[in-house]
Amino acid sequence: MYQNDGAFTADGGSMSIESTAELMEEHAGEVYTRNLVPGETVYSEGLHDVDGTEYRRWNPNRSKLGAAIHNGLPRLPLGPETETLYLGAASGTTPSHVSDLSPDGMVYGVEYAPAVIRDLLSLAEKRTNLAPILGDARDPHSYAGLLGRVDVIVQDVAQPDQVSIAAKNAERFLRDDGYVLLAVKARSISSTKSAENVLAEQTEKLEDIFDIMWKSRLEPYEHDHMFYLLQQ
Ligand SMILES: C[S@@+](CC[C@H](N)C(=O)[O-])C[C@H]1O[C@@H](n2cnc3c(N)ncnc32)[C@H](O)[C@@H]1O
Repeated sequence: MYQNDGAFTADGGSMSIESTAELMEEHAGEVYTRNLVPGETVYSEGLHDVDGTEYRRWNPNRSKLGAAIHNGLPRLPLGPETETLYLGAASGTTPSHVSDLSPDGMVYGVEYAPAVIRDLLSLAEKRTNLAPILGDARDPHSYAGLLGRVDVIVQDVAQPDQVSIAAKNAERFLRDDGYVLLAVKARSISSTKSAENVLAEQTEKLEDIFDIMWKSRLEPYEHDHMFYLLQQ
């Protein structure tokens, strides 16, 4: 199901498949990430032991990036030292898996809901590669002092201007050879037009700004979403 064709370090060099592969496991058709904080779960996900190493189940019904992997995402551009800007970090479900996969990197998690970021702050007490940022992803300059260029942007903000938010943040923070992993939710853009039409329009907008390396709907895990792997 999941094909690991390499990952990228903070300096952009290819990692060996082995060094990345040991951070992920496939077991009985499910994807797992090596638990950075053994013994602790983040969202009551299942744990799985492989020769004394603990892995956390990446639930595709709870994570759009997890769903994209199940639906054939051809490349997961996350390696042990990857620096990721995560927009719409919420309480850390998907960011925790990104954190597992980049133990020597950094995940900057931007979230604008104060009630939600509290959970992210307690997660970051033990996950030292996770930096919660209370901020508005529409205003990248407001957090520009907290990070430099990143290797990857993951975005899941469910807003009408999802494409513009991705474009602004990529322009400000993404390395030239970096990747954007973007979830677009049709219902956040229009509740009257068909999801097909909305997603086709958003794809056209994205094509003006990015190279679309891959895209897929997220059914059966999420309805009316498109997930994209992009480069600038
Ligand atoms: C669907 S949830 C994200 C779930 C998360 N990606 C995960 O898989 O664990 C969307 C989140 O984006 C946040 N959000 C929406 N608009 C935002 C903005 N402009 N800036 C920062 N966060 C935003 C919401 O508060 C919400 O927590």
